[in-house]
Amino acid sequence: MFSGRKILVGVTGGIAAYKAAEVVSRLRKLNAEVRVAMTKSATEFIAPLTLQSLSTNPVYVEMFNEPKLWNVEHIALAEHIDAVVVAPATANIMTKMAIGLADDFLSTVLLATHAQIFVAPAMNHAMYHHPAIQANLAILKDRGVQIIGPATGFQACGTEGDGRMSEPVEIVESLARFFVGSDWLKGKKALVTAGGTQEPLDPVRYLGNRSSGRMGYAIAQALQEAGAETILVSAPANLATPPGVSRVSVQTALEMYEAVLARFSEVDVVVKAAAVADYRPAFQAEQKIKKDGSNLTLELIPNPDILAELGRKKTSQILIGFAAETENLLTNAQNKMIRKNVNLLVANDVTKPGAGFGSSTNIVSFLFPDGRRIDFPQMSKLEVGRHLVREIAGLLGVETKE
Ligand code: CTP
Repeated sequence: MFSGRKILVGVTGGIAAYKAAEVVSRLRKLNAEVRVAMTKSATEFIAPLTLQSLSTNPVYVEMFNEPKLWNVEHIALAEHIDAVVVAPATANIMTKMAIGLADDFLSTVLLATHAQIFVAPAMNHAMYHHPAIQANLAILKDRGVQIIGPATGFQACGTEGDGRMSEPVEIVESLARFFVGSDWLKGKKALVTAGGTQEPLDPVRYLGNRSSGRMGYAIAQALQEAGAETILVSAPANLATPPGVSRVSVQTALEMYEAVLARFSEVDVVVKAAAVADYRPAFQAEQKIKKDGSNLTLELIPNPDILAELGRKKTSQILIGFAAETENLLTNAQNKMIRKNVNLLVANDVTKPGAGFGSSTNIVSFLFPDGRRIDFPQMSKLEVGRHLVREIAGLLGVETKE
C-alpha cells in the first residue's frame, strides 16, 4: 500500500510524542519512505535519534541548524512528499497552521507543501473544546486538512475525556485510506462545476442561490487525489482552490455554459455540482435601479441547461449530475437522470439537517440508469467525493478492488 509513498511525520510537543515512534515504525514496515520533522518542544518528549533510527533518515528539527542546504531544504522536502501527518498535533501547531505562521522547520514545510495534510490532535479535553481550537480545526478542515481523531479516554493530566491522540494503528489506517485509489484516475481529465451562479440585475445586485461551493470543491479535491487532471469551473465561492486543481472562475450561468462547453471534448468526466440559475433577468440595468415606491416586476428569461446540453453532446464522457431537491427526492432525481442523460445522479434533500447548502457534510444517494441505487449516511463532503471517485473509476472501467 505504501510502497514508494513519501510521508513526512511531523511530531510536536505533547506527551503522545512517544507514540510517533510507532507511527513511523508501522509506516516503514509497510514500505513507506518516511521523513520526520520535530518541533523543538517535541525533542523534550522523545529523542530525535529514536525517530532517526526508526525512519532511517535524518530528523529535521531547527530551521537554521540543519546540516547543509538548510535554505532550500524545507522547500525541497515540501515538494518531495506525498502526505504529511502531524502526530501528535498540539493546540499550538494547529493554531499556527490556521493562521499561516511559519516560525520553525515543521510549520514552514506545512505552509509550503501541496501534499495532503493529516493532523492527529492531542491535548487536554478542555483545551480541545476551547472555541479557538474548534474554530481553527474548522478552518483546517475547510482547507482539506484531514483530522484524525482525537480519541476519548484517560488523559495524561489525570482526567478523562476526548483529546487523546488516536492510536498509531488508526493513524496509519487513515493514511492508507487516502492512498487507496490514488492512481485510479491517472491519465484522465475531469471537469467539475461548483458554486452558485450569480445573475446581475444592475451593477450592484444579482439573483443568486444558497450554494456554498463546498460539494464541488470537495469533489475536485477527491478527483485530484485520485490522479485526475482536474479543472474546477467555479461560480463565486469563498473557498480555497484544492491543491493541484486548476480553477476557472465564472459568474453567470452563461459564462459557466461557455467555460464548460469549450472544454467538454477534451475531458473524460464532468461532474456538475454547481447550482446553476435556471433564469436570468431579461434586462440588466446599466445603472443602479432606483426605488420609486411602486411595485417592481422583474422579467426573467431561461438560461441554457448546461447538463442537458452535455447529455445531448456526449460521446465517451462520463456525466455526473446533481439533484438538489426539497420534496419528492427520488422521483425528481430519477426524472432528472433520464432527462439529462447522465451516467450517475447524486441526489440530496437540501432540507435535511447535515445535508445540502453551506453544510460541511451531506447525505446523498447515487442513482444509476440501470436502476441501481446506493444510499449513504451523513458524511463529510470530501468523503462523498471519494465515494463518487470510486464510482467514476468503475464507470471508466478501472479495477477498484482493494
Ligand atoms: N444544471 C445545469 N444547468 C442549468 C440548471 C441545472 O447544468 N441551467 C445542472 C446542475 O448543475 C445539476 C443538475 O443540472 O447537476 C440538476 O440541477 P437542479 O437545479 O437540481 O435541477 P434543474 O434542472 O434546475 O430542475 P428544477 O429546477 O426544475 O429542479
